[in-house]
Amino acid sequence: MQIIKTRDYDHMSRMAANIIAAQVIMKPDCVLGLATGSTPVGTYEELVRRYDKGELDFSTVTSINLDEYKGLSPENDQSYRYFMNTHLFSHVNIDPEKTYVPNGLEPDSEKACAAYNAVIRQAGGIDLQLLGLGHNGHIGFNEPSDIFEKETHCVDLTQSTIDANSRFFASMDEVPKQAYTMGIGTIMQAKKVLVVVSGKAKAQIVKDAFFGPCTPQVPASILQLHSDVILVGDEEALSLIP
Ligand code: GLP
Repeated sequence: MQIIKTRDYDHMSRMAANIIAAQVIMKPDCVLGLATGSTPVGTYEELVRRYDKGELDFSTVTSINLDEYKGLSPENDQSYRYFMNTHLFSHVNIDPEKTYVPNGLEPDSEKACAAYNAVIRQAGGIDLQLLGLGHNGHIGFNEPSDIFEKETHCVDLTQSTIDANSRFFASMDEVPKQAYTMGIGTIMQAKKVLVVVSGKAKAQIVKDAFFGPCTPQVPASILQLHSDVILVGDEEALSLIP
């Protein structure tokens, strides 16, 4: 694993954008695995800036997002499809037909997950997977569990994740309790994985995930077994690692 220690959030965002930009430049028809959450927002802003300057071309890129809340429509401003449109897709020349997010409006979980697995297979897998890190070690919405789920599945979100996500919703009742997420097996098959972490609140889980035992109770810990992981974090988030 390569660790890049940055000064602060903005520096982290620029470094992460460098890595994604390099991927897009080196393989213009690459498949990017994309993530939501507050951590990658600055990375997307930076990519948009570079696109505006004419440094990046997304016209032949395919994107496959990690996850989506079950029950939320793409128009819901808390859906991950809406997030991606707002923070990246509507600002760059990516073909909307080549941007994939699980279908939150499909009530049949088996159908939704099978369709997403087919999308991932047809795309030929993921070249670069961007990940944030949940406070309990979740990646995508792969919550702590007794097993590492391989493919796309429907998850019951844990109370700590529901609490963490409630800051974005008007009331607790509106916070979705389930989500569709790409599986750990799919994430592990990505050729390269880029993890972004920021802030003191992530310091302990960064230490547990990357320097503790590899266990499905800390889903991100499986990344220790991936051969090409880059962890980009600010000083606060990396403050507890050896
Ligand atoms: C959500 C997303 C994750 C993300 C996590 C952390 O649960 N499903 O992909 O990594 O939030 O978000 P943040 O970056 O806001 O801490």
